[in-house]
Amino acid sequence: MFQFIIWVSLCCLWQLAYGMPSAAPEGTVRPHSSSAASPPCSALSIPKPELFGAEIISLSAHAVHNYSIDAGASSTFRAQNYTSLEFCQVNITYTHSGTNDSIHVQVWLPLSGWNHRFMGTGGGGYATGAFDLALAPAINRGYAAASTDGGHVVSVATARSWALASPGNVNQYLLLDFASKSLHDMAVLGKAVTESFYGKAPNYSYWDGCSTGGRQGLMEAQRYPNDYHGILAAAPAINWPKFLPSESWPQVVMNEEHVYPDQCEFDAITAEAVKACDSIDGVKDGIIAATGLCHFDPHSLVGQSFTCNTDGTKRLYSNAAATIVQETWNGPHKNSTTLWYGLNPGTSLSGLAFTNRTVAGISYGVPFPISDDWIQLFVKKDPSFNTTSITASDFASIFHQSYQEYESIMGTDDPDLSAFRNAGGKMITWHGLADQLIFPNGTVDYYQRVMAVDSKVRDYYRLFLAPGVGHCGGGIGPTPDDQLGALIDWVEHGTAPSMLSTTSPPVAGTQTHRPLCVYPLVARWDGIGDSTKGSSYKCSASYT
Ligand SMILES: *[C@@H]1O[C@H](CO)[C@@H](O)[C@H](O)[C@H]1NC(C)=O
Ligand SMILES: *[C@@H]1O[C@H](CO)[C@@H](O)[C@H](O)[C@H]1NC(C)=O
Ligand SMILES: *[C@@H]1O[C@H](CO)[C@@H](O)[C@H](O)[C@H]1NC(C)=O
Ligand SMILES: *[C@@H]1O[C@H](CO)[C@@H](O)[C@H](O)[C@H]1NC(C)=O
Ligand SMILES: *[C@@H]1O[C@H](CO)[C@@H](O)[C@H](O)[C@H]1NC(C)=O
Ligand SMILES: *[C@@H]1O[C@H](CO)[C@@H](O)[C@H](O)[C@H]1NC(C)=O
Ligand SMILES: *[C@@H]1O[C@H](CO)[C@@H](O)[C@H](O)[C@H]1NC(C)=O
Ligand SMILES: *[C@@H]1O[C@H](CO)[C@@H](O)[C@H](O)[C@H]1NC(C)=O
Ligand SMILES: *[C@@H]1O[C@H](CO)[C@@H](O)[C@H](O)[C@H]1NC(C)=O
Repeated sequence: MFQFIIWVSLCCLWQLAYGMPSAAPEGTVRPHSSSAASPPCSALSIPKPELFGAEIISLSAHAVHNYSIDAGASSTFRAQNYTSLEFCQVNITYTHSGTNDSIHVQVWLPLSGWNHRFMGTGGGGYATGAFDLALAPAINRGYAAASTDGGHVVSVATARSWALASPGNVNQYLLLDFASKSLHDMAVLGKAVTESFYGKAPNYSYWDGCSTGGRQGLMEAQRYPNDYHGILAAAPAINWPKFLPSESWPQVVMNEEHVYPDQCEFDAITAEAVKACDSIDGVKDGIIAATGLCHFDPHSLVGQSFTCNTDGTKRLYSNAAATIVQETWNGPHKNSTTLWYGLNPGTSLSGLAFTNRTVAGISYGVPFPISDDWIQLFVKKDPSFNTTSITASDFASIFHQSYQEYESIMGTDDPDLSAFRNAGGKMITWHGLADQLIFPNGTVDYYQRVMAVDSKVRDYYRLFLAPGVGHCGGGIGPTPDDQLGALIDWVEHGTAPSMLSTTSPPVAGTQTHRPLCVYPLVARWDGIGDSTKGSSYKCSASYT
């Protein structure tokens, strides 16, 4: 039943890499305008754009015909193949003079059926951009679209190749490129190339990204408020200096306990939490929607038996596993002071509390690589720093140092969005409440801080929480059908989305539709209608 629980960390990286475009694959067919002749796709007709502080090293362009991307046979929900794409591919390499960086941007321009819009696309993990994986869906919908490598190798899981100029010294220029600078550059370059190619500027510009791509969208709104008219910033990796080390907390707790329970014990505890809290939201569907009202105590299980879902053996719940799960839900703390949020009960623990056994049967913890790299490379600045040795009290210093050194560069949590508002921008964030990598409460925390600065935030920025949905998708919960369409309606027609319609993957053959309501409202079942249908829900202040 709860197949999403047995994801392993590799799945999660896969999610990071492939969950990047936050826009749902559309039912819309790519527009074809057979009459319009393609403009010439050549470096001769696309002059090198101007970019203050940068030197354009090269610009090349050629037409690409009949391009396709295969989503793979193991088609996850909403995965889509893209075929017969026809576009002008423009590559730009540039450097910020004096910083010795070398940044690569690609702009893809549909040869026919351009929708007069430009789209900046985001990355995942340590990858600044996703290139083909993000550009193909965008041009399939008619956008001129851009992706950037931010000056380093496109690698989601690790920053090892670029983080340090030498042991002890962070490469500050490349970090700044990754954090913010290359994003604005891409908007400037991408729009200029689009205008040169089509002979007219795009009518509207949009950002689309999830995870790191979500953080990048918020960075654009906070720091470059005139770059985009509309921003989709899903499951954003904001509060980076706080949340990223916090992803290592479950491993710190296991190292302190010297116990590395098998995943099947975590899975069983998670299933018990779902059993206990599923109905609080009024619908028994295997999803904990009322996460804040779930107070299940894993220690209540200690000594009872469960069946391990990987080998079918009967086992007893241990005190150590209960402690590790409780700590993962609570989040890191320094004695009794909370440092950051934890995962919601019901969320898969296989991303952050992953464990494994050697062939000889010795169990060990498997740290989440993106967090592990952050501590080693950026906080300790020592590629061979042993993260297994971190104690709970070391953790508090690491957390503090991460915040002190990197908040202004990577935090991306400035609650003052007034410049974006004044520029007329509109922004949508959605975040899965069963996100197994980025704590959804960090996003809620940010949104509340924005509300505290401007109580009318919903005039230009709306948050939607998605029960039962994992990182950028996945899980059994329903995900938005067309959040990009909702954003366009808002930007271009002034229709603010009061809810997002959704569809879940088939669970026992049934797909459910439960609207996502504008935060802080929640979708409450009317108690009468078919609970798999969107029309049976009303946006309400609470579940009870
Ligand atoms: C752009 O760069 C990609 C990746 O290196 C390459 O495959 C492609 O041929 C380049 N296109 C142009 C127009 O230079
Ligand atoms: C386009 O590519 C597909 C394979 O992806 C191939 O089967 C088809 O023949 C190609 N069409 C043309 C016109 O080249
Ligand atoms: C993509 O196409 C391949 C065949 O080339 C097929 O096996 C796969 O199921 C398709 N995936 C999706 C999501 O349609
Ligand atoms: C500039 O960067 C290149 C790699 O891109 C590196 O080989 C070279 O040593 C760097 N030069 C300086 C002065 O840092
Ligand atoms: C873009 O603007 C032009 C006028 O500049 C207008 O004719 C066209 O319909 C607009 N296209 C879209 C997609 O809004
Ligand atoms: C996390 O967010 C949920 C949803 O808004 C809320 O109900 C809950 O109280 C929050 N938890 C914490 C610890 O802030
Ligand atoms: C936190 O607990 C440790 C022992 O685990 C103790 O040494 C330290 O003084 C405590 N710190 C505070 C601020 O209470
Ligand atoms: C778990 O350990 C086994 C060897 O015991 C190894 O084959 C497998 O790749 C490991 N899995 C992960 C996800 O680390
Ligand atoms: C890392 O630290 C742990 C805990 O202190 C220790 O058991 C392990 O041997 C260390 N690993 C290395 C490579 O030093």
